[in-house]
Parts: sequence; C-alpha cells; structure tokens
Amino acid sequence: EGSAVAELLLAQIRDIPDYPEPGILFKDITPLLNDASALRSSVEEMAAPYRGTAVDHVLGLEARGFIFGAPIALELGAGFVPARKLGKLPAETIEQSYDLEYGTAAVEIHSDAITPGSRVLIVDDVLATGGTGRAAVDLVRRAGGTVVGFSVLMELGALRGREKMPDVEPHVLLSV
Ligand code: PRP
Repeated sequence: EGSAVAELLLAQIRDIPDYPEPGILFKDITPLLNDASALRSSVEEMAAPYRGTAVDHVLGLEARGFIFGAPIALELGAGFVPARKLGKLPAETIEQSYDLEYGTAAVEIHSDAITPGSRVLIVDDVLATGGTGRAAVDLVRRAGGTVVGFSVLMELGALRGREKMPDVEPHVLLSV
C-alpha cells in the first residue's frame, strides 16, 4: 500500500541487524506499538476491509498476533481466539504442525474455541514464509470454521509466503 498512512507506519519499523541470528535483518515493530496514533491506525486499517463482513471470531497468533488481534476483534464486534505454541493452552486442543526451513513447528487452539459455521478472521503481525498463516487457516477449517480473511501488518515479500495460501487473499498494510 503506497498511502500516506503506510509511509508513517513504515517509518516506525526499526531494522535490527543480526537478530535473532547473524545475517538476519529483523523488522522491529515496537516503535510503532509505542506510538499512540500509529498503533490506532494500524488496528483500524487492519480491520477496515472486514467491517462489512460478519466475523464471529478473530484468531490471533502468538505472540505479536495477539497485540493486533484483540483490538481488531473489538473493532469488528467479534470474540478473540488465541492460537498458541504447544503446551500453553490448558484445556483440550487441536494442533497443526508446519514445516520450517529446518524442522517443524506447531500451533494449537482450544478444541471448543471455533464451532462449526463460525466465521473467523486470522490476524498476525508478519507474513514471512507463510507457514504460520497456513497452519492457522488449516486449523480453522479442521474445526469447522470458515476463514473470512487473513489480515497482517507487514509482508516480507521476498519470502513468498502468500504462495502458501492461494485460497486466502492476505490483506497487507505494509510490504517490505
Ligand atoms: C513470527 C511472526 C509470525 C510468524 C511469521 O512469529 O510474528 O507469527 O513468525 O512467519 P512465517 O510466515 O514464516 O510463519 P514467531 O514465531 O517469531 O513468534 P513470536 O511472535 O511469539 O515471537
């Protein structure tokens, strides 16, 4: 998005070289979160395309997806579902694993969090390789829910994550 809002938000994302490993340029969103108007604009713009759509639940991905997911749920009049890393949720769960460059990872939700027919918006801060988003889409569908969208603050386009989800068009505020 080439809008003025996007320019303002981009200016508040900080590049951290060699984090978490040598050779990685980490996009740090904490300056954006720290700024009241940038935080508000991000939440509003991430929710905007879905205002005319029925959304029962926003599913946020641990950990940074929680920061945006809960206020977007409030904006849309929806409930919030946390998708967490393994072992963090106390009741019965369903889990979905996905491939990393080396090895696998997994996320899980409570088995009763999404009921058949529920309309779910998935929210995260970053779309990188797409593994996390893909796992979230598959989890929602396995629970019988309908994915109404996938809203992210930022897409790392070079990692081509959107190719993993040809069935869900991501809504992206910032492409870096
Ligand atoms: C980051 C980011 C997304 C995911 C995107 O989370 O917040 O959830 O990676 O990457 P992908 O598209 O390649 O799957 P991370 O696993 O670092 O967790 P955190 O938010 O708990 O730090």
